[in-house]
Amino acid sequence: MKFKFNDDQAFQVKFAFTNSEKEYAEFFKGEKGEILPVLCQNLILVGLGSKEDLDYLSLRLAANKLGKYIADKDCKAITLNLKESPEIDKDECILALVEGLFLSSYNFDFYKTEKCDFNLETVNINSNTNNLDQVEELVNVLEAQTIARDLVNKRSNDIYPESLANYTKEELEKLGVNVKVYNKEEIEKMNLKAFMEVAKGSDKEPKFIVMEYLNGGDEKPLVLVGKGLTYDAGGYSLKPSNGMKTMNSDMGGSATVIGAMAAIAKNQVKTNVVAIVAACENLVSGRAYKPGDVISSLAGKTIEVDNTDAEGRLTLADAVCYGSTKYQPRLLIDLATLTGACLVALGERFSGVITNSEESFADLQEAADKAHEKIWMLPNDDAFKELNKSKVADIKNSGGRLGGTITAGQFVGEFVKEGTNWIHMDIAGTAYLSSSYDCFDEGATGVHVKTLYKLAKKYSK
Ligand code: BES
Ligand code: MN
Ligand code: ZN
Repeated sequence: MKFKFNDDQAFQVKFAFTNSEKEYAEFFKGEKGEILPVLCQNLILVGLGSKEDLDYLSLRLAANKLGKYIADKDCKAITLNLKESPEIDKDECILALVEGLFLSSYNFDFYKTEKCDFNLETVNINSNTNNLDQVEELVNVLEAQTIARDLVNKRSNDIYPESLANYTKEELEKLGVNVKVYNKEEIEKMNLKAFMEVAKGSDKEPKFIVMEYLNGGDEKPLVLVGKGLTYDAGGYSLKPSNGMKTMNSDMGGSATVIGAMAAIAKNQVKTNVVAIVAACENLVSGRAYKPGDVISSLAGKTIEVDNTDAEGRLTLADAVCYGSTKYQPRLLIDLATLTGACLVALGERFSGVITNSEESFADLQEAADKAHEKIWMLPNDDAFKELNKSKVADIKNSGGRLGGTITAGQFVGEFVKEGTNWIHMDIAGTAYLSSSYDCFDEGATGVHVKTLYKLAKKYSK
């Protein structure tokens, strides 16, 4: 879809508040989500609800409904007539409209023989405010978010460690990101022992993917770590089959950091960002790790495997240790579809956050607000720490059911180098929706590509 600023004679779209269109009052009230095509006048009316209720998300949703309405019509171009709707002829509002329309074009039909209709090609914006630069920047970010959504929606027979690594290298190197992929022998030599324990049960070779985008001089980098379980069957602590079925999405954290790198690189943000993904599968086999095993880690800490289904934190333990020791980050953020407990606590609407730095969290909250993505901080309190204590090893990989999101996050935190600013984001609920919400269908959302992009921008020169 292309966005242009002009007053093309294409189908005109007019946005209207409740009861503002007297001429069409019998057919159109202007309620939120209402759409009325007035074909004889080449006009579509889109309702916004009451003026007081207008905000970014409701405007985005209205545009999204418009896009979905037009999708299967034989209409290739529309003109958003904002000159007649001065209340929304503003930079932020234009961005909300662009985003809503862009999101309406996403259909995951990769596996369908017959592809979904989406005929709309051109959106003309007829306005008094021309913010084409901002629109182009946003579209780059949204395209990067689409990359993340596709990666998560594709199934584990298509996205496995090697294909994920190859795709990442191909896509990101085009954009000027340096991508290094380490294979199994190299991972072993690097002493990523906890990661290897999870990976060893699968016939698919693990890959350790390091992406460097260096465009900020000698400033300390922002380091992003994404959980990269391309499938999580649970291992010997096997998941029931209905819980297993969607575990192709367990690389949601890695998709987000890959998407964020694409967004940052496409827009050539002047900053240093490194992203790290330890990609593997958690399966059952004669070579798999087992409940009760005691394993080691890059940090040198020993870990009792209380539950093989708490595998993400083991892979992250080595990845955050590597990232925090090698790069001296200004801030390290790990993102992971880490716990079912996070779904219980926050549903599919908020991501759960744990941090050791209130100051960094304030930066993240500001970025999330700008991105219109929801996060909620949980207490990183010492009172929970005894739950991860092991009788036989330095720590165990599950703290049990109670406070499960917190103890999982704290486990990861134990492997971050002392003195590093660190934020953990549990996106188990937000990365993959069980039913559609807002502008997103069931399935992958690409959550926090936008937030990380905004944060990288804040940290740029
Ligand atoms: N990948 C899962 C978490 C998950 C569950 C993500 C549902 C998305 C939807 C993770 O590896 C896992 O299995 N966590 C366990 C931890 C437990 C064994 C301590 C869980 O949440 O049950
Ligand atoms: Mn698991
Ligand atoms: Zn998992």
